[in-house]
Amino acid sequence: MAHGYPRFPSAGTRLCAVFGQPIRHSASPALHNAAFEAAGLDWAYVACEVEPRFLGEALVGAGRMGFCGLNLTVPHKLEALEWVDVLDESARAWGAVNTVVFEVEVDGEWFPVGLREPDGRPIRSKGYNTDADALIRALKEDLRVEPRSARVLLLGAGGAARSAALRLADEGVLELWLVNRTLSKVEELAAEISNRYPAVTVEVGYPESDVEIILNGTSLGLKSGDPLPLDTDRFPLERADGVYDMIYRPAVTPLLTAAQAAGCQTANGLGMLLYQGAAAWELWTGRPAPLEVMREALGREVYGGPR
Ligand SMILES: NC(=O)c1ccc[n+]([C@@H]2O[C@H](COP(=O)([O-])OP(=O)(O)OC[C@H]3O[C@@H](n4cnc5c(N)ncnc54)[C@H](OP(=O)(O)O)[C@@H]3O)[C@@H](O)[C@H]2O)c1
Repeated sequence: MAHGYPRFPSAGTRLCAVFGQPIRHSASPALHNAAFEAAGLDWAYVACEVEPRFLGEALVGAGRMGFCGLNLTVPHKLEALEWVDVLDESARAWGAVNTVVFEVEVDGEWFPVGLREPDGRPIRSKGYNTDADALIRALKEDLRVEPRSARVLLLGAGGAARSAALRLADEGVLELWLVNRTLSKVEELAAEISNRYPAVTVEVGYPESDVEIILNGTSLGLKSGDPLPLDTDRFPLERADGVYDMIYRPAVTPLLTAAQAAGCQTANGLGMLLYQGAAAWELWTGRPAPLEVMREALGREVYGGPR
């Protein structure tokens, strides 16, 4: 067995998890367990289906059970802002929590539980956002577009879309067009961006001009039979250079199929998953993430082989 990594968790195994609903599509366990194995760490990562109404209890419970950290996915990223004990600057700036680090207090200082055993000392949960930076890196690498100075149509206003919008505004995007099923959420988001980033042109609705990027931050496309997340009568895909879908399973969503047919550059959310996961792993373990091991594990999990 590589690096003496145990095949099954033992009584001493440190635990991390992802909470979401639905969660069975998640590639995060493959990503993180491969990295633990490569680093020779007796850690394990599991996926837990957590109903929104139980998020607070589940967060507290994981801390009480000695978990080192969590990822949060659909639909918990916004609600978690209210439930974690403290927010890192990243969660405050990008307005959503996708990573939790449990910390233990030792002599008045807080350390990740992964680095110091709790031993009955006070525990707190700290919320981070590793999605926002991961998205920017994935857009540059996988879609080969420079978000700075781009015109972007962003679909959605949930946890992932909200942090994407704020991070894109911070990056210096030229124009941001926001579309979401619930209009009030996208109006609030547009107002927040106008207030914090007055140099960015932000509008609610479909663009009048062509755009460099369409970014899907809705969960439409996760389930088979989902409709497209945008109205192509109002904004034909031919008017975009590139389409990025944050969804990575299915690897090719109906949106990406339609975008390829329209001649757009396309990429799914695997690169974003990789980079947000690597950043979370480093926060939990205090070690540099084995990025290539993680990339390969994701390729195997989602495509059945490296890509
Ligand atoms: N690749 C990655 O690393 C990564 C990271 C983060 C998220 N994601 C993906 O991004 C997506 C969103 O995640 P999230 O955490 O932001 O979820 P969320 O907070 O639950 O937000 C869901 C979004 O989808 C919209 N939506 C849901 N059902 C819809 C429907 N039937 N019709 C129209 N719109 C609908 C919601 O609109 P309302 O506001 O109207 O409810 C909201 O804008 C998920 O697919 C997730 O897997 C991927």
